[in-house]
Amino acid sequence: MLSLYKDATVTKELFNTAKEALLAAKKDVKHPFRYFTMATIGINNSPRLRTVVLRDVKEDLTISLFTDRRSKKVTHLKENNNVCLLFFNHNDMLQLKVDGKAFLEEDDKVLKKAWKKMKESGKKDYRSAQDPGSKVKDPEMIEYLDTSHHFAIIHIIPSKIEYLELKKEQHVRALFSKEDGVWEGSFIVP
Ligand SMILES: Cc1cc2nc3c(=O)[nH]c(=O)nc-3n(C[C@H](O)[C@H](O)[C@H](O)COP(=O)(O)O)c2cc1C
Repeated sequence: MLSLYKDATVTKELFNTAKEALLAAKKDVKHPFRYFTMATIGINNSPRLRTVVLRDVKEDLTISLFTDRRSKKVTHLKENNNVCLLFFNHNDMLQLKVDGKAFLEEDDKVLKKAWKKMKESGKKDYRSAQDPGSKVKDPEMIEYLDTSHHFAIIHIIPSKIEYLELKKEQHVRALFSKEDGVWEGSFIVP
């Protein structure tokens, strides 16, 4: 039987589908990839997950998100910067799993530029006087800083992307790895 998925050209097409979907989600706030799950390795090697917003995707597929510098995820990354990201598009039944290394943006100019661009309402997320995750009697009693903030940007440089598309006739699963700066892909059993 003639296979629809027999050569490298097809895996390249799948890679481009994944890439275009990520690039589309950076512009379209309603895109299903706009919100994704990020896993870090917590204390005692326990897995830790949370939903985050996709803020930027570069041509080389570096993925960026905003966070509070005091959050647990940042503490985790300082110990071990291996992360796994999970994207799911329920319209296309497409899942992307991204393995990579996370880095905190250290360039003050870049941080200031992103902060300046942000809506005032969004800035509140990085201005709580108390640390994120600390106990509070009443959410309305949380104090917010007027003159300082704890805004941070996390960049994730991907090294592996796993593509899984569920289809009635035949599910399609492929693994892409970056070797010496070049992405290479192969099909794997779904
Ligand atoms: C829809 C949604 C979007 C979120 N986006 C972000 C985000 O972009 N950055 C962030 O740090 N936390 C975001 N959060 C909160 C995280 O899921 C998490 O609760 C918080 O960052 C604390 O995580 P940590 O203690 O593991 O660091 C979002 C939560 C939801 C429900």
